Amino acid sequence: MAATSSRILNSTLAKLVMSAEEAAALIQPGSILGMSGFTGSGYPKAVPTALAERITAANEKGQGFKVSVFTGASTGPELDGALAIVDGVNLRLPYNGDGEMRKRINNGDANYMDIHLSHVAQLVDYGFLGKMDTAIIEVTAILEDGRVVPSSSMGNNTTWINRADKIILEVNSDQPLELEGMHDVYYGLGIPPNRTPIPLVRSDQRIGTPYLKVPMEKVIAVVCTDIGDRASPFKAPDEASRKIAGHIINFLESEVKKGHMPSTLFPLQSGVGNIANAVLFALEAAPFEGMTAYTEVIQDGMVHLLDKGKLASLSATAFSLSPEGIEKIMPRIGSYRNQIVIRQQEISNNPEIIRRLGVLSMNAMIEGDIYGNVNSTHMMGCSMQNGIGGSGDFTRNACISFMMAPSTAKGGAISTIVPMVSHVDHTEHDLQVMVTDQGLADLRGRSPKQRAQLIIENCSHPDFRPALRDYYNRAEKLAPGKHTPHLLDESLSWHSRFLRTGSMLA
Ligand code: COA
Repeated sequence: MAATSSRILNSTLAKLVMSAEEAAALIQPGSILGMSGFTGSGYPKAVPTALAERITAANEKGQGFKVSVFTGASTGPELDGALAIVDGVNLRLPYNGDGEMRKRINNGDANYMDIHLSHVAQLVDYGFLGKMDTAIIEVTAILEDGRVVPSSSMGNNTTWINRADKIILEVNSDQPLELEGMHDVYYGLGIPPNRTPIPLVRSDQRIGTPYLKVPMEKVIAVVCTDIGDRASPFKAPDEASRKIAGHIINFLESEVKKGHMPSTLFPLQSGVGNIANAVLFALEAAPFEGMTAYTEVIQDGMVHLLDKGKLASLSATAFSLSPEGIEKIMPRIGSYRNQIVIRQQEISNNPEIIRRLGVLSMNAMIEGDIYGNVNSTHMMGCSMQNGIGGSGDFTRNACISFMMAPSTAKGGAISTIVPMVSHVDHTEHDLQVMVTDQGLADLRGRSPKQRAQLIIENCSHPDFRPALRDYYNRAEKLAPGKHTPHLLDESLSWHSRFLRTGSMLA
């Protein structure tokens, strides 16, 4: 506690220091809470855990107690996990990666709104999602004059602080003080029709201030904690990930040779998960120098590229490091201050900037169909995995967007290339390249039927390829329309066969 308190230099806010339990007692049932946090970093830990205990006590007395939880993106076990276990969440948005919360969402206990991350702030600004009662924001330190040093993620913090009636600050002494100066908080975003262009024309540019502005009169509690961010370990890249990475790098090399982009490439965006990280590690050996990144999260692979001198600068809204990454990188985070910029997600995921910079986006999919539609969120059409996150923000607006997956899942029982996706997140109009371990399909300039042949031949697994060819050939003959031929009685039969038999194989 003493060590943490030394990070609260403002005398007015220092008077509001209280325990997490006391702060949680200030939250009313039914509240809409705006919490910090993005991909397991920078989320409040002590207050949500204390709130979960309060909800348990209320439940034991037969008093219903649920809250709505809005964040930047995924958080960790002390927030989503703790609140889900006690069934304390009425509405959750915009993204979740926690297993306990996933169970509540898929059981129907919690409502979930899966929203493009760039849309969230605007929806809240307009009041479409209700009145926000309390913002609970993890911060690194509070300076003497009241300016606040943000934590390891920015997410929607500026919007929550602006829109909430009350604010609780969690000052986390586990976050390195060297984070000070890495953030770029932009306060120039107006509301239509008076919104002006965002003056960001280079991925490494700073257009704001390193500090959060927090209206002191709204702060009702300051809580000290030293709990570390959730860190998800990465699996070592498997053969499929290495092959996917190889296909993407060959494609990029050929784009550079054709003069479509410079050898520094365009700014990279890399999604969550092991395949994305494998691509980043593979870029180390690729012949591109002075690369840049305009992305959402900073995984180990990105920092590795900075260390190797391959990446010149890196813009994101959050760190998302593995346990080894946190141990290795956080103690020397200050040395990256001139290379890393952390922005609010309204800026990191902003369509205007993604389009202007010509970003190369690389995201993982659950399944893709023969015409190029992609499902990133739903298992067998019904169960939510994580959410669309920023994949739509980037996929639709990038210069070239890649969607990638191993060609099979569940030990070969599932083909990730299917006749028709069981849920659509990214349409055939959004992406340019589909990649699996089998190969890459460059979909640019192709009609639906040309795309189907390319995806089947280049991306599908040989165990499923004959059946896909057969489906496509029969659809071409029998479908009532020949633009995007489908056999509607059959198009989702691969999924229903899996649900019936445990395999998509006939
Ligand atoms: N049908 C059913 N299950 C499938 C499947 C399919 N077509 N493809 C994969 N799975 C299962 C896997 O077997 C695995 O199950 P398990 O957890 O029981 O082992 C699970 O889905 C996750 O698969 P994995 O290959 O480990 O995926 P991942 O960690 O690379 O994540 C996504 C893939 C698509 C779920 C993930 O990238 C995601 O949530 N994307 C959407 C958000 C996003 O793109 N964010 C970045 C934007 S900046």
